[in-house]
Amino acid sequence: MKEQLKHPVFTIIGSVADELNQPTFVIGGYVRDLLLGRPTSDIDIVTVGSGIELAERVGRALRLKSKVTVFKNFGTAMLCYKEMEIEFVGARKESYLRNSRKPIVEDGTLEDDQKRRDFTINALAISLNKETFGQLTDPFDGVKDLSGQIIRTPLDPDITFSDDPLRMMRAIRFSTQLGFQIADETLIAISRNKERIKIVSQERIVDELNKILLAQKPSTGFILLEETGLLPLIFPELSNLKGVDAVKGIAHKDNFYHTLKVLDQLAPKTGNLWLRWSALLHDIAKPATKRFVEGLGWTFYSHNFIGAKMIPGIFRRMKLPLNEKMKYVQKMVELHMRPIVLSEEEVTDSAVRRLLFEAGEDIDDLMTLCEADITSKNVGKVQRHLQNFQLVRQKLKEIDEKDSIRNFQPPVSGEEIMETFGLTPGREVGIIKNAIKEAILDGIIGNNHEEAHRFMLEKAAEIGLAPVR
Ligand code: CTP
Repeated sequence: MKEQLKHPVFTIIGSVADELNQPTFVIGGYVRDLLLGRPTSDIDIVTVGSGIELAERVGRALRLKSKVTVFKNFGTAMLCYKEMEIEFVGARKESYLRNSRKPIVEDGTLEDDQKRRDFTINALAISLNKETFGQLTDPFDGVKDLSGQIIRTPLDPDITFSDDPLRMMRAIRFSTQLGFQIADETLIAISRNKERIKIVSQERIVDELNKILLAQKPSTGFILLEETGLLPLIFPELSNLKGVDAVKGIAHKDNFYHTLKVLDQLAPKTGNLWLRWSALLHDIAKPATKRFVEGLGWTFYSHNFIGAKMIPGIFRRMKLPLNEKMKYVQKMVELHMRPIVLSEEEVTDSAVRRLLFEAGEDIDDLMTLCEADITSKNVGKVQRHLQNFQLVRQKLKEIDEKDSIRNFQPPVSGEEIMETFGLTPGREVGIIKNAIKEAILDGIIGNNHEEAHRFMLEKAAEIGLAPVR
């Protein structure tokens, strides 16, 4: 393994460790990713002895300007060197719990430390001391699981998962990111221990959900969450999308699997986490709005509006940000039906202008979401929709260039209206301003000051206002 540890920082850590007479290893995700050929910049170092002292001495040896951050309670220390984040920890008998509030109890050997880690592929260690530099320690056949593409716990999974129940989600997340299978006994243990997820903090849960969402094929993770029974516990609204009702032989599609297909279709088009959240949530209100209407079949009226209203509650509970990211997701969910409706009818300029006005800067994201939302098995239908979308996109471009609606700024300001008619802020100013906006969106006047000014005078006359000068 020497070849792979060419970076001088590893030799420096090794020689400082030799001075302290501490067996020291690079361990965990860094080794896993090294063997998989995935680039990483987070390095975990485990040492048999004090991790904090080793980190402080390494910091001096590297002549770091920034400080070594010490977490005394956890017995860990962290330093940043070039683009790398290096974390140091003393080997321990207790479970490796980065986020636990419990202080570490007992020092241990390397093997003690390895067996309290989450998965065999994350328990690989490479020595950094001079004499053994580059030697791999692999007590649980992690290398074999890496090549067999298996996620497996080093100990009885009941023990590994009870040490930290988040690991159930980590198993699913790694399986999704890496395309690995979860070993049968590990997977069964997730179902058996699922209720324990309730003791895990929401921040850690959502972190895993985000990583699943950002994977190449997010559906893998959500299907595993569903199959193991974790999904209803961590995300009941999503779990509720599952299932098909039939009345008089008429069934609707399963909205859970539809949503996952949308996500998978969207994934190659964007790495924007919030657009992926929008896809996950676009039909979230379908169960709440579902009705069977005689002669019409299944309807989900207003599921886009109700869905947008559900989002703040979901974001709050999930500890997702309650800022402009949430507003963006709300907007996407609310508008997700518009381009498809538009493409089904004749694409009029004013409908396109209104869509541009409402979506603003996010119009391209909205179109990407809507294209991914076409999941019909009927190839002809899919082709037709996609062609119509091309038309909508083209129209959007033309109108955007002509009318600059995307970042709509009223061509006549409220101040100008007030000055012209000697008004103070009030209802009349609003009426005129709104009439100008509507006239532009309807294509009655162009989006420029001259036409808007003329229109303002006409509109004002209608409601009995005359210019003061
Ligand atoms: N670890 C663990 N149990 C956890 C979290 C982490 O055993 N609940 C151990 C694993 O050995 C893991 C290492 O700590 O490899 C580093 O954890 P972390 O940085 O969270 O994950 P990585 O494996 O590095 O992967 P990623 O960066 O993709 O999260």
